[in-house]
Amino acid sequence: EKGTYPHYMLKEIDEQPAVMRKIIQAYQDENDKLVIQPEILDALQEADRIHIIAAGTSYHAGLIGKEYLEKMAGIPVEVHVSSEFGYNMPLLSEKPLFIFISQSGETADSRQVLVKIKELGHTSLTITNVAGSTLSREADHTLLLYAGPEIAVASTKAYTAQLAVLSILAAVTAEARGIKLGFDLVQELGIVANAIQAQIDAKEEMEQIASEFLSTTRNCFFIGRVMDYFVGLEGALKLKEISYIQAEGFAGGELKHGTIALIEEGTPVIALATQEAVNLNIRGNVKEVAARGANPCIISMEGLQEAGDSLVLPKVHELLSPLVAVIPLQLISYFAALHRDCDVDKPRNLAKSVTVE
Ligand code: F6R
Repeated sequence: EKGTYPHYMLKEIDEQPAVMRKIIQAYQDENDKLVIQPEILDALQEADRIHIIAAGTSYHAGLIGKEYLEKMAGIPVEVHVSSEFGYNMPLLSEKPLFIFISQSGETADSRQVLVKIKELGHTSLTITNVAGSTLSREADHTLLLYAGPEIAVASTKAYTAQLAVLSILAAVTAEARGIKLGFDLVQELGIVANAIQAQIDAKEEMEQIASEFLSTTRNCFFIGRVMDYFVGLEGALKLKEISYIQAEGFAGGELKHGTIALIEEGTPVIALATQEAVNLNIRGNVKEVAARGANPCIISMEGLQEAGDSLVLPKVHELLSPLVAVIPLQLISYFAALHRDCDVDKPRNLAKSVTVE
């Protein structure tokens, strides 16, 4: 039940710090060590390549999951939109492992792929919020998200839960492969939970940003580089699905290859700057759009901030920054939709789980 909350979406955004703590607990053994089922570890160890299959927000989580599995555990990963994969399969390696990411576990586009790869005899793992869902029952293995029921059509807490579980999967696999991570993931996820809470406690700032940048606009761009690019894609999806503002996410360096033609006087460009290695590059991209009249809203992270940034996020481990950077984007979308009198929890033309191909 949504209790005193005006919308499920806001309630579910607020639940994210608690979900983080629940996930950490669920994946710890009695000595507080992160663990996953040995059969799943074996499947990852045996795989020569991982294919992540998902749709929508879960696909966006998959893009970040690839970073975790490659950078932490050293396994090559491809990420595919499920509606395309089954009808345009890439060349497969000897021992691929398929990871299905699906909040509902019922997405028909993803199931269609699962049926096909099972016929080919390949191993599958479903990461889902719903125990006993179709994708969970039909896959060889399941990892649960422990996010609790997600009612609002726009996915929020399931996305951050997916990122947390993917980071745990990558860290435990890394350990099994003898790779030293150099940081304590449990501790870092705890810091993330607090940073998420800080964003939630600063809601008025996001409401302010929504009214300053989005109250009358027709369109909005999200730019970022490296991990921030993927978070921007999710920010754009969230904004368009609930506020009906046309929104697109781009890699910061790609805008000048065509899309910059769309920048007009006052066009909002939400830029994420949480990645140290590309901080100067994204700042340069902001200058390019500002020089053409854009109204840039910069969301940066402690240590990388500059005067004039609209929001500065608390510092967290760079790999985990998407878990924090997405929170203001969820809240900005929520307030933008609210200001436009949109049906936040049930946007037009959409269903919570898409059970047709
Ligand atoms: C966006 C959203 C959708 C779903 C997509 C996949 O907010 O909720 O894009 O992420 O339909 O759904 P699941 O994860 O249930 O497979």
